[in-house]
Amino acid sequence: MEHPGFKTLPTHIAMIMDGNGRWAKKRLLPRTAGHKVGLDTFVEMVDACSDLGIPYMTVYAFSSENWNREKTEVDALMSLMESGIRRYTPEMHRKNIRLHLMGDLSRFPEKERTSLLACEEELSQHTGMTLSICLSYGGRQEILHAVNELLAEGKKEVTAEELEQHLYSAGLPDPDLIIRTSGEYRISNFLLWQSAYAEYYFTDVYWPDFKKEELYKALSSFETRKRRFGK
Ligand code: FPP
Repeated sequence: MEHPGFKTLPTHIAMIMDGNGRWAKKRLLPRTAGHKVGLDTFVEMVDACSDLGIPYMTVYAFSSENWNREKTEVDALMSLMESGIRRYTPEMHRKNIRLHLMGDLSRFPEKERTSLLACEEELSQHTGMTLSICLSYGGRQEILHAVNELLAEGKKEVTAEELEQHLYSAGLPDPDLIIRTSGEYRISNFLLWQSAYAEYYFTDVYWPDFKKEELYKALSSFETRKRRFGK
């Protein structure tokens, strides 16, 4: 599908990929079936944003709170995310996509962590779109992690710039547009510091059904927003 030709695109688009479980439930399928189709949407979104020339894209794949889900679902998600990213790595290579992982990966099983870090390393020198994937990520945890690093350096007082340099997002611009699917109107601990001036776009569509034309609707809405940054 041709995109409508946007005059203004976000520099940094972020997505809360929500509704996989409900998508599956509606079809009497196991929750993991929703995550599998959710992976296809993720790939379609990365392709679409990269093709549009959006410089930065960030997705919320697994939150700090998601560890509390049933072990079978957590295990299935670990395996799906690892294999999904690994299998998509050659394509990201061709598309010059730089991969950046954000979150507390120390909580990941050794096998998945090693594989994901190898993909990140392989794609780290690319100069096209930067794709950040939040894994075992929480906004509060990220800020605390940064503060603790600064304290360990012996800092007694810090500037906003110093704090930003210690966030997982160091070096990335703040998100301009944050999309959340599935009809939930919450931030859910996502990019708390970085989203201070972000525009939000909410849709009732479940993540597995969030296809290119839904992305274009979000981008069309973004074009109409007058951003004032508090002025
Ligand atoms: C939220 O839906 C989604 C997740 C917790 C997992 C997101 C993971 C993917 C889309 C898989 C692929 C991702 C990558 C980066 C390889 P939910 O399970 O909370 O749905 P519900 O609210 O309807 O229960």
